[in-house]
Amino acid sequence: MSLLLISAVVLLVAYLTINWCKDQQKTPLPPGPPFLECLQITWRMLRKNDTHLIAEDLRKRYGEIFNIRLFSSNLVFLNSSRIMRKLSVSGQYRNVTNDRPWTFYGHFICYGCRNVSLRNYNEMLMKVRKMVHGTIKLYGDGIKVFDDMVNGEIQILQKELENSKLKASFDLCKALKVSLIRVIHIFLTNERPKDSEECNYICDTVEEFDDVDNEMFNSVLLNTCPWVRFLPGRGRRLYKAALEGRDKLNNLYLNSSIKERLKGHGKGFIGKILSEAEYANEMEDEDIKGIVGEMVTAGYLTTKGALSGFFLLILYYPEIQRRIQEEIDDNIGSDREPSLDDRGIMHYTNAAILECLRFISHVPVGIPHVTREEIEVEGMRIPAKTAMVTNYWSAHRSDKYWDKPDVFLPERFLDDDGKLLPSEHILRSQLIPFGIGKRNCVGESFAKSRMFLYVTSLLQRFNFSPGENKLPPSDSKLWMPNSTMMPAFLNCVVAKR
Ligand code: HEM
Repeated sequence: MSLLLISAVVLLVAYLTINWCKDQQKTPLPPGPPFLECLQITWRMLRKNDTHLIAEDLRKRYGEIFNIRLFSSNLVFLNSSRIMRKLSVSGQYRNVTNDRPWTFYGHFICYGCRNVSLRNYNEMLMKVRKMVHGTIKLYGDGIKVFDDMVNGEIQILQKELENSKLKASFDLCKALKVSLIRVIHIFLTNERPKDSEECNYICDTVEEFDDVDNEMFNSVLLNTCPWVRFLPGRGRRLYKAALEGRDKLNNLYLNSSIKERLKGHGKGFIGKILSEAEYANEMEDEDIKGIVGEMVTAGYLTTKGALSGFFLLILYYPEIQRRIQEEIDDNIGSDREPSLDDRGIMHYTNAAILECLRFISHVPVGIPHVTREEIEVEGMRIPAKTAMVTNYWSAHRSDKYWDKPDVFLPERFLDDDGKLLPSEHILRSQLIPFGIGKRNCVGESFAKSRMFLYVTSLLQRFNFSPGENKLPPSDSKLWMPNSTMMPAFLNCVVAKR
C-alpha cells in the first residue's frame, strides 16, 4: 500500500516537474503570486467571496493581467477596460476568448447551458443574443405602450411612498423589489399582475428562484464535485431547490395557456421570442425556458441592486439629491411625468447614474471567459481552456485610471460647461459596468432606461433622508460581497416635495 502511495507521489511530482520545465521554455504566463500564496488566495476566495477585493490588491502588485496558478490550471485576471477591450473585442482575439466555463448551474439547471450567459461563443449564441438583444432594446429604449405601463408601476410605487410619510423608517429596498418584479412581469408578458394575490405569488416565485440561483451559481461544492447531488446533505438540497424553483418559474411563465395567449399576439418578451423561435425554427423548448428564466434573474437582481444602491448614495449625499431635483425642476417641471426623451438634457442626473454604476460596480467580477486556443498577449501566454476573470471592480476603482476613485463624484463625468462627457471620451471608455465586446450585457439599455425613469420620477415628487435605523455603509467595498452587489436594507424617511 505504502509502495503504491510513494509511486503515486513520485509520478505526480515527475508530471508536475516535466510540465513546469516545458512551461519554462515557452513565452511566460502572466505574472502572479507564488504557489503557497495562490493556495491561500484560492482558499479565501472560496470562503469569503470577495474576489474583487483580493484582485485589486494583486493588481497593485502585478498589473493589468495576472495569473493565479494552482498545479497545472490557471485563473487569469483582466483588470482594466483596456485589456478587456483588447481581448474580448479586437479581431485578433475575440473568436477565441469568449467561451464560458463549465458550471453545475449551466449544466444541470439550465438544460446544458441553454440560457444566454453560459453558452459557448458560436453561431447559435450570436443568433440568440441578436434575438434577445433586439427584443430587449426595443423595450429598453421605450416602446410607448411599455413605457406607459412602467410609468403606471412607478405611480403605484409613488402612492406607496406617499402613504409612508408618517413612518420614521420606510424600507425602500422592499418597495423597489415589488415594483421591479412587477416591471419584469410586464416586460415578459406585456400584462399587469391581475391582483395583489397574483402579484405576491409572482414576487415569491421570483425571489425564491433568485436566492437559490445565486447560491448555486457560487457553490464551490457543486461546481467541483457535481456527484454530491446524489448524496444526502446541503448539495443535494440546493440542487433539488433549484430544480423546483426553475420548474415553478417555467410553470408561471411558460405554461401552455400563457404561451398560446402571448404567442398569438407577439406580446411581451415571451410572445416575441416564441414567435421568433417558431419563425427561425431553430430553438427548442429548453432554449426558450433557459432564456426566459435568465431574463427574470439577470433582469431583476441587477436592476434592484443598481436602484437601491443609487438611493443609498443620495441618502449619504443630500447635496447630490438636491442638484438632481433642481435639474428635474428646471427641465421637466412637476406637471408631467419624466420620459426617456428627457435623457438628452439631464446631464447631471445622467452623470450621477454613471458614477453610481462605477462607484458600486454592481457586478464586481463577470462570468469568466474561457480561451478556446492558446493566445499570446503583450508578451504573455494564456493557455487554451484558461478561465479569464473580468475584474470590473479594478477597472472602476483603480487609482491608475480614476482620480479619487473611492469618492462618489458625479462631476467627474461632466465637462466645464456641465455637459455629460461624450461616450467616446477616454474617461467614459474606462467605465464598463455592463461588460464589453461579444459577451457584453444584453440588458444594458433596459437597465439604464429603468434607472433613469425611477430616479427622475421619484426625485421629482419626494425628498429622501436617512431614517431611524443605521444605514449600510456608503462604500460597496464594505458590503457583504456577492455576485450582484446591493445594500442589504435601506431604511429612510420619504417626504413629499
Ligand atoms: C445595472 C444592471 C446590470 C448590470 C450592471 C449588468 C452587468 C452585466 C455584466 C458585467 C455582464 C457580463 C459581461 C461579461 O461576460 O463579461 C452581464 C451579462 C449579461 N446580462 Fe447584464 N447587467 C445588468 C442588467 C441586466 C438586465 C436588465 C438583463 C436582462 C433583462 C441582463 C442580462 C444579461 C445577460 C443575458 C448577460 C449574458 C450575456 C452573454 O454572456 O452573452 N443584464 N451583465
